[in-house]
Parts: sequence; structure tokens; C-alpha cells
Amino acid sequence: MSLLLNLFFTGLIGSVLAATPAQWRSQSIYFMLTDRFARTDGSTTATCNTDDRAYCGGTWQGIIDQLDYIQGMGFTAIWITPVTGQLTGDTGDGTAYHGYWQQDIYSLNSNYGTASDLKSLASALHDRGMYLMVDVVANHLGYAGAGNTVDYSVFDPFNSNDYFHSYCEVTDYSNQTNVEDCWLGDTTVSLPDLNTESESVQNIWYSWVGSLVSNYSIDGLRIDTVKHVQKDFWSDYNKAAGVYCVGEVFDGDASYTCPYQEVMDGLLNYPMYYPLLRAFQSTSGSISDLYNMINTVKSTCSDSTLLGTFVENHDNPRFASYTDDMSLAKNAAAFTIMADGIPIIYAGQEQHYSGGSDPANREAVWLSGYSTESELYKLIAKANAIRSHAITESDTYITYKNYPVYQDGSTLAMRKGDNGTQTITILSNLGASGSQYTLSLGNTGYDVGTALTEIITCASITVDSSGNVPVPMASGEPRIVYPSSNIKGSTICA
Ligand code: NOJ
Repeated sequence: MSLLLNLFFTGLIGSVLAATPAQWRSQSIYFMLTDRFARTDGSTTATCNTDDRAYCGGTWQGIIDQLDYIQGMGFTAIWITPVTGQLTGDTGDGTAYHGYWQQDIYSLNSNYGTASDLKSLASALHDRGMYLMVDVVANHLGYAGAGNTVDYSVFDPFNSNDYFHSYCEVTDYSNQTNVEDCWLGDTTVSLPDLNTESESVQNIWYSWVGSLVSNYSIDGLRIDTVKHVQKDFWSDYNKAAGVYCVGEVFDGDASYTCPYQEVMDGLLNYPMYYPLLRAFQSTSGSISDLYNMINTVKSTCSDSTLLGTFVENHDNPRFASYTDDMSLAKNAAAFTIMADGIPIIYAGQEQHYSGGSDPANREAVWLSGYSTESELYKLIAKANAIRSHAITESDTYITYKNYPVYQDGSTLAMRKGDNGTQTITILSNLGASGSQYTLSLGNTGYDVGTALTEIITCASITVDSSGNVPVPMASGEPRIVYPSSNIKGSTICA
């Protein structure tokens, strides 16, 4: 319903809104922890020991200086971690370098720069035709101390216990009331849980979010801990934001997660995350679970093309912490970009970073030297390029719902797009030692005799007389096929 309303308003007053769901659908997002991506001094050697959970010096100005690196991979948007004022100092759980422990929602985290730096980041992006997405938290604040010791006067606003649910810990994820009304965090840093049923809390948040978006020219929001707030809080929040919102419902069960899309434009595709990871994290992963989940998400969520697809983020171990096989990492990245929804690549994924659980997965990206020669950087650039190109070639590409057309024990092929402008993405979990062979692929929708280009290798292929596509497979690498006549004029495989 909120989606329909949004689309309705977009049509009527599209120019007034910043960036709508329809505009975000065709973007591709690079996600970073501001503290860990780039420093103002441009250092590529400044130490950052993730175990310390300390500030490492990343800034908004640092991001501005590395936009070529991000845009060079074909990204059209960035998502940055929360910008609000945080609890200061070091706790037994480290500092608030990640931004999820806010105390003053009207100030900015000065570790990342000034208000003018944040505005400059928005305009630097807009000058390139790119979008800014900012992470926001409405469920909780952060306090260095146990839940029963909180001094509410340190918060601005929300400076009394009247604004909060009474203290209890989230312990039972099968009990939705416990999930919504109790507190996250631990006894070292508690996350005081706002009483989002109260009208005064709602009024503060709804007016705050609209102002944040307009003050900093924000184009979209990533919303934290969505399942910890009652559903009916979110429709008005999304409306007050006036831009595309993508929510974090940290749950792999589509029947639990998808209904949140009725109160929010989009969701992080956690249902897809788990089978995607499992399919490619080893050479014995399940292709069929991923195959089935493509169909499940499509039929369960109200619009799979507005979900955010990812295989890495700052809350889960990096893909390469499971396997160092480069081919498997390429397949996971290719799926992320070529499936339905908005691709989200987590900074450092392109450098094959391999940190395990939080905090190890929050490595400083500057230590990679921002190499544009890494295998995954190049693979991501190719996949983003063909996706963007297909979007420009066909009005219906981006709303066409991707579906699987083939599976065997180690291979999945999927189709997105129609009328001769479809991409066929072929994924494999044979790994880098996989042999060379030709996969004869049917059900692609291409006509007999059509000249195709395989985008990763730039090989030419022709649809055979039975309508099958002979796909040259090697070393377990992914393949993306597209009609040759439609890439003429672009720089892809030129
Ligand atoms: C989810 C965020 O992604 C995570 O990093 C954070 O610690 C929790 N929500 C609490 O805000």
C-alpha cells in the first residue's frame, strides 16, 4: 500500500521528492562504514586494528576524495553508516565508531567531519549523478552502562524515561512483543528502547527524519533494526522521509521478513542472503536452495525489484572468511548484481577482504591501497556495467522479475529482462579448479541464430539451431550473456 501511494505521488509530484523507489530501483549501492573507508589525509597505511573497536579515522571528506574509485566499479550510490551524535569514550564494548549508539540526534558525529563536509559529500555525489543513502536508527539510543543504570538526561531529545519502554532484555526471538518492547545491547552498552507507540516519540522521529533528509540532501535511507519496532510505526516514518527507504529485517524467513515491505519501500534481502552464501561458500553448497529462494522471495515479498541484494555486510563474516576461492567469490558477487533488486556491495568485498565476525569484518579499506586492478573490482565493474546498460536499453528490464531457467548440482542460470534485451547469468560453484566445458543452455528466450556476447570473457556465442546457447564455462567462473547487437555503441567488450 505504501508503495502504491509512493508511486502515485511520484507520478504527480515527482520533481518535489528527492529519490523515489522507482528511481532507486535501477541504482547500485556501495556500502561503507564511514570510519573505515577513507581518511581526510588520504593515508593508505594508517593502522586500524579491528579488535580495538576504536575510531580509525575515516571521514566524509575521505569518501569525497575516493569517489572515482567507487564510481569506477559502476556504483551509482553509496550507503554510509549513521551520522548522528554518539556516546563518547571507550566502553568495554569499544567506541561508537560504527554509529549505532546515538545520544544526540540533532548533532553530527564530529569524528567524521562537519555539517558542511556532509553537505559537500551529498553535492559531490549529485554532481556525478550519484545518490546518497544514510543509515538511520529509530529503535534505540546507546548508553555506556547496564539498562537499569541509564541517566536519561544525557539524551537529546528523549531526555527522560517517559520516552522509553521499561527495561527488559530481548531474549526470545520467537516472541514478537519481547523483540519489539525489550532492549538490545548488553550490560556494558545497553540500547535504550524507545517507546515508539507513544505519540510524542513518533512526532519527534517523523519531523526529525524529514529534516535530516532535507538538511543534508539525502536521497535514500537505510533503516536499522526494523523488526524491533512495531510495524505500524514505519508507514508514516517512510512517508515523512519522502525518499526511498530500505529496512533491515534481520531474518532469513521470507514469510516473516516480506510483510515488512507493506510498511516500507524496500528491505535488505536477508531471505536471499543465507541460501546465496550457502550456495557459493564451498564447492558442495546447495544450488537448489538458492534456486528455490529466488522463486520464494518473488512470490512472498510485494516487490522483489525494490529489495537490496547483498552477500556481505558489517554484521556477518565476510564471504572470503569461508573460502579463499576467487571463483566462488566472483559468483556470489555476480549474483548480487544480476539478480532482482538493488545490488549492495560492502566496501572491502572488492578487495577480497576476509574478516570473520564483527569486529573482524570491519577492516579499513584504505589498507588495500584502493587497487582498481583486483579481480573482484574488475568483475564488479563488468557486472554493474552490463546491468546499467540493459536498464538503459529497455524500459522494462529493471522491473522484470528475475527467474531461474536452469539448475544442476553445481550450476544455476537465471534470466532477467525481455524482448531480446535479457541478461542470462550463469553461476557455478565448481570453484577455481573447475574444468573447462560447454554448457548447452535452453529456456533463455533468445531466437535461433542470435549473436550473443559473454560479458566476462567477451566471447562471441550464437544460439544454436535447437535454440540452445552454448556457454563456455571454465575455472568455475560466472558468465553473463547479452545480445551483441545491443551492446554495440557501449564500451562493454568494445
Ligand atoms: C544492525 C546494524 O547493522 C548493526 O551493526 C547494529 O549494531 C545493530 N543493528 C544495532 O543498531
